[in-house]
Amino acid sequence: MTLDSASLTAASDSPLRLMPKVELHCHVEGSARAQTVAELAAHHQIEIGVDDPADLYHYESLAEFLAAFGTVCSVLQTPQDFHRLAYEAAEDGAYAGIKYREMFFSPGFHLERGIPFDVMWQGLVAGVAEGEADFGTRTRLILDVDKPKLLGPAMALLEIARGLDRDLLIGIGGDSTERGIDHRVFAPLMAEAHNIGLKTCFHVGEDGPAENIRHMVDAGIDRIDHGTRLLEDPELARQVIDEQIPLTSCPSSNAALGIVDSLADHPFAAQREAGALITLNSDDPTFFQFDLADEYERIAATFDFDHDTMVAINDAAITASWLDDSDKAVLRAEFSNPDLAR
Ligand code: ADE
Ligand code: ZN
Repeated sequence: MTLDSASLTAASDSPLRLMPKVELHCHVEGSARAQTVAELAAHHQIEIGVDDPADLYHYESLAEFLAAFGTVCSVLQTPQDFHRLAYEAAEDGAYAGIKYREMFFSPGFHLERGIPFDVMWQGLVAGVAEGEADFGTRTRLILDVDKPKLLGPAMALLEIARGLDRDLLIGIGGDSTERGIDHRVFAPLMAEAHNIGLKTCFHVGEDGPAENIRHMVDAGIDRIDHGTRLLEDPELARQVIDEQIPLTSCPSSNAALGIVDSLADHPFAAQREAGALITLNSDDPTFFQFDLADEYERIAATFDFDHDTMVAINDAAITASWLDDSDKAVLRAEFSNPDLAR
């Protein structure tokens, strides 16, 4: 497997690693193995600024993280590169116990380097299919727009999304920083995405205020990515809880990027206690050098959650997924069958 196994805290036979899981917030580019980045950089003769690619994966803020994310993206040039990326993400996901994942890709980072959309899409489609066949990790994709580029490029991507296979592309999201962005500009994107049958989610309440969550809720968002600062607006929190708008929380990512001071300071437990439909996710596993199994172990240890609570947190991810009801029932039946545990 990938992630340098020495950095993974959840042992290969730990119950939380073996638990079959669903993940709803993970970036395919944020799952690039350091070794793969090194090999692709050498192959394409791309300067990545470090001798050891593992040195890319050090940062203390979202801004520094996003710079590293851009560097990793720069080595992805051909359909074969995107294929390998998605395939290896499925292999690593399987090791984390992931059976079903709704996964982001971020075309804005590639288009700005002159990589045609079809190059990434063809590669991802092939890698997702082969990864599912070989490792049993079923992956569906969410196209994330680059929020700082604002509405125009986002709408252009939605036009491309219109023609893509809906069995594979299930939603539109938005990532990168929230700083300096009035999220109300994205309301037409949400409306048009819904018009063409796509679900919506956005990274909000991460490095920006609860007000950004409010603006996306007002625009009819289906799921909130991060939502770390939700409880700072009690009225909004009430609405999100009453309407059970899911949160895809990534506590260790937030701790690593200084969004919260420490894992113990993360509002995950408080949001859950308040009744939010909150799910647990790794965000960018290779970039943070832990995977979803590690995240489950860390959260269980930090908040003293017992195994049944972790099972319930995983079940919330089935509820919050964009599978239809019959697929959710199938997944629940599979997950309650202990023979599935490897
Ligand atoms: N892209 C990848 N990970 C991200 C994060 N945590 N926040 C914003 N954009 C991202
Ligand atoms: Zn993210």
